Amino acid sequence: MDIELNGAKKIRGTVTPPPDKSITHRALFFSSIANGTCEIRNPLISDDTRRTVNVIQNLGCYVKEGSGIVTVKPLKFREPSMPLFCGNSGTTARIALGLMAREPIFAVLYGDESLSKRPMDRVVKPLKTLGARFDGRRNSSNLPIAVKGGNLKGTDYTSKVASAQVKTAFIIAALSASFNSTYKEPYESRDHSERFLEQFGVVERKDGTITIHPSTIPAFKTKVVGDFSSAAFFIVLGAIHPNARVEIKNVGLNSTRIGLLNVLKKMNLKMEIVDYNDDVEPYGTIIVESSDLQGVSVDENEIPSMIDEVPLVALAGAFANGETIVKGAGELRKKESDRIKATVEILSRMGAMIEEYEDGFRVIGGRPLHEAKVESFGDHRMAMLASVAGLCSDGIKVKNADCVSISYPDFFLQLEGLMKA
Ligand code: S3P
Repeated sequence: MDIELNGAKKIRGTVTPPPDKSITHRALFFSSIANGTCEIRNPLISDDTRRTVNVIQNLGCYVKEGSGIVTVKPLKFREPSMPLFCGNSGTTARIALGLMAREPIFAVLYGDESLSKRPMDRVVKPLKTLGARFDGRRNSSNLPIAVKGGNLKGTDYTSKVASAQVKTAFIIAALSASFNSTYKEPYESRDHSERFLEQFGVVERKDGTITIHPSTIPAFKTKVVGDFSSAAFFIVLGAIHPNARVEIKNVGLNSTRIGLLNVLKKMNLKMEIVDYNDDVEPYGTIIVESSDLQGVSVDENEIPSMIDEVPLVALAGAFANGETIVKGAGELRKKESDRIKATVEILSRMGAMIEEYEDGFRVIGGRPLHEAKVESFGDHRMAMLASVAGLCSDGIKVKNADCVSISYPDFFLQLEGLMKA
């Protein structure tokens, strides 16, 4: 599906972003290893999270979808007779590798064209040190990958990449090992798994080291907060549109996720947080207004807490006074698309002054964007970025925009609501 949007005269209203994708994946995976039936309230139902449901069902879990609630009854793991499809979902594939590493069964994972290009060795390596065995394409660097797990032994592992998917795969596997494990990463990536498991005392954190105590976890009930990464499109829309006020409700505000807010604040964002709830996963309402943005510099250490939002910094930079530079973001090339290349292509087609670096980009702001026809690159976040840019210019045509259903099935409906209000 291609989508055509006109420039918006005014942006007004309230939106509630969809439930958090990362937290929904984790709630599903952790319920598959729990001691009894678990309840996940307000889960994200999207293409990616359906892949995780499919994987745990094929490994033996009973999953029931009700309205606004998913119930998971973990059963004894069984060996799937067919390869398991992870679609476009890197989180499904990587955490599933960790889940399967726990079991003495043979299982095969595969994905779509984009996922088949994405690196898996970053997960395979730590899981091998725990004792799992793998065989896959390009020396198990890419899907399809076969796993034979079981009999894991605790180990101390220091990852070269700051990746929450790798970290979670390691933790879920290490929970079944014969003795304690530790895990370190170069910069802290999103910590949803640690926050969740700390509640049961099976994971501890001290001075940047995570210790995993092999254990089962009790049956649980959990509620998923709104996805900051989805809310981010409305935050930037509100900031860059000249006549905007947007209220974004129930947004997850975990400090390891909101790096974009910190960068936008440095850029002079007009924003307020109200109704803040300090829960295991804090959440609140964000109110954003048209802002007079200034250019900013973003460094490597800031990237993990805004990994999925970095392309939006380029868009904000195109509407800011002066120069915006992002460096140390090479990981963006390994996402659902090469997000450095895709961002530069979309924004330069719209007339922005943007230059590509190997690990980031430089944008000179202030030149008005014009109408253009752009690709989504099959990447949900690129389709949403282009759409927001279109609303703040003379309009846009985005090819293959249906990929938004990967994380945000109602995105276009909610966007239209803000233009009408
Ligand atoms: C995710 C972690 C991030 C992010 C992805 C979801 C997760 O990847 O880009 O969209 O749920 O763990 P890395 O932390 O592996 O870079």
